[in-house]
Amino acid sequence: MERLFDLFHQNPELFIGILESINDAIYITDQEGTTLWINTVSETMFCLPRSVIIGRNVRDLEREGVYKPSVIRKALEEGKNVSVVQEVAEGRRYIATGHLVKNKEGRVIAAVAHSRDITEVVKNATKLQEIEELLDKYSTYIRKLANVRENRKGVEYINFGWKSNSRVTANKIIEKIAAVDTMSLIVGETGSGKSLTAERIHSLSKRRTGPFVEINSASIPDSLLESELFGYEKGSFTGATSKGKPGLIKAAEGGTLFLDEIGEIPLHLQAKILHFLQSKTYLPIGAREPQHADVRIIAATNRDLENMVTEGTFRSDLFYRMNVLTVKMPALRESRNDIEDLAIYYLNLFNDKYNKKKHFSDGVVKTFLQYDWPGNVRELENLIERLVILSEDELIEDKDLPQKMMKQNITSSVPYHSNKATMPEILEEMEKKMIIDAIEKGNSTRKAAKFLGVTQSLLMRRIRKYNIQLVVEESKTFVK
Ligand SMILES: Nc1ncnc2c1ncn2[C@@H]1O[C@H](COP(=O)(O)OP(=O)(O)OP(=O)(O)O)[C@@H](O)[C@H]1O
Ligand SMILES: [Mg+2]
Repeated sequence: MERLFDLFHQNPELFIGILESINDAIYITDQEGTTLWINTVSETMFCLPRSVIIGRNVRDLEREGVYKPSVIRKALEEGKNVSVVQEVAEGRRYIATGHLVKNKEGRVIAAVAHSRDITEVVKNATKLQEIEELLDKYSTYIRKLANVRENRKGVEYINFGWKSNSRVTANKIIEKIAAVDTMSLIVGETGSGKSLTAERIHSLSKRRTGPFVEINSASIPDSLLESELFGYEKGSFTGATSKGKPGLIKAAEGGTLFLDEIGEIPLHLQAKILHFLQSKTYLPIGAREPQHADVRIIAATNRDLENMVTEGTFRSDLFYRMNVLTVKMPALRESRNDIEDLAIYYLNLFNDKYNKKKHFSDGVVKTFLQYDWPGNVRELENLIERLVILSEDELIEDKDLPQKMMKQNITSSVPYHSNKATMPEILEEMEKKMIIDAIEKGNSTRKAAKFLGVTQSLLMRRIRKYNIQLVVEESKTFVK
C-alpha cells in the first residue's frame, strides 16, 4: 500500500493511466458535485470533450441534458451509493453507479461514477420480447388451426355397407385400433379420410370424453413445432419476463393427440416423440424436470415412411413403433366398387342441403367409375357439391363435368394415336394435366407445387400459361 502511494506520488500519470485503462466511463467530482475529471470513455459517451465538462456541476449538466439523471447528484443527495439507468447523447443507455468516497472520519470528500453501455442489451431484450410476442401470436394461430375441426362439425364419418374389400378391411382395423390404447398410424393418399379417421378412432375409444387435439406438422415452422408440442418453461426465451406455456401434449391430457403429416417432423423431434411414447414423459423446453402426460398419439401421413427410413429422413425406431397398428385408407381408385354409392350419398346430402333435385346421367356415373380420383373422397365430395350448385338442369351430364375428367383418356392416348400433335404440344398437354391433378390433389397451389417438385412461382406461371381457371372456396383451391 505504502509503495503504491509512493508510486502515485512520484508519478501522478500512473493514476490517470489506470483510470484510462478501464472500459467503463469514469466520472469524478468533489463533494459538491463539481466535475474534477472524466476519462476518455466518458468523453465518447457524452460526445463532448473533457474541457467542456471539467469544472462544471453535475446539476447544471443534468439540466442541460448531457445525462439524465445524474447518478452523482442522486448519490450525494441520498448519502449512499446509487445505481440508475442513464440516458445520454443519441438516446444511448448506460447503467451508472455513483459511489461516495469518504475520509477516515466518514465525511464525503468526492464522488465517482462509472457507467457501462447497455444499449445493445436493451435492444436485445426488446428484440427477444418482440420474438416472444410473435411466438405467442403464432401459437394462438396454430391453436386455432388445431381446433379447425371443431368448425367442421357436420362431417359425419360414412360407414355404410362398403362393397370394396379394401374399405371393409380398413373399417375392421379402425374398430380394432379404437378398442386398444396404443399409438396408431393412419396412412393413405390425400383426401382419403385420414384426419376424419383419427377423429373416429378417438370417438370410438375409451378416451372419447377427453380432448381431441390436432396438430399439423406441415403447417408449422420446424422452429415452433417443439414449443407447440411440448411447451416451454417460464424464462426459456427472454429471461425473467417470459411466461412459459404448456404444449399441446398437455392440452390433450386424458385424450388423444393427432399428429397429422408426421412425415414432416424433423429428426430431433422424432426422437423426443419416441421418448414420450416409451416413457409417457417429456421435457418442455427449458425445463429440468420431465413431465408426465396421459395422452394417446395417433399419427397420419401421406408419405412413404418406409422409404423415408431408407433415405435416413425418418427414424427407423419410431417407424417400427408406430407401424404396429397401422391402417391404410384406400384410395378411391382402389375401391371403385364404392364410388357409385358414395356419389349417390353425396348427391342426396347436397340435394337436401341446397334444396335441389339433381340426378346423374348414366354417362356421368360411368365417368366417375373410370376416373382416377387423385384427390380421393374429398375430390368426389367437392365435385358433387359444385355440380349440385352449378349445373343448369336437374340432370347432371358429362358436359357438366370438369374438362380434366373427360380428358383423362384422351391425354393418355395422345402420344401414340395423334398424328396431328407435335411432341411439344403433347408435352404441354401432359404438363397441364399434371398441374390440374396436383391442384385437385392438394387443394392448394402451395401443396400442388410441392407434389410436382417445382416452385410456387413457376407453377403460377404455368397456370397462367395454360389459362387454368382456379376457384377458391373456404381457403381451398379448385380447378374450375
Ligand atoms: N369415410 C368417410 N366418411 C365421410 N367423409 C369422408 C370419409 N373419408 C373422406 N371423407 C371426406 O373427405 C374429406 C377429406 O378427408 P380427410 O380430411 O380426413 O382426408 P385426409 O386423408 O386427412 O387428407 P389430407 O391428406 O389432405 O389431410 C373429408 O372432409 C370428408 O368430407
Ligand atoms: Mg388430413
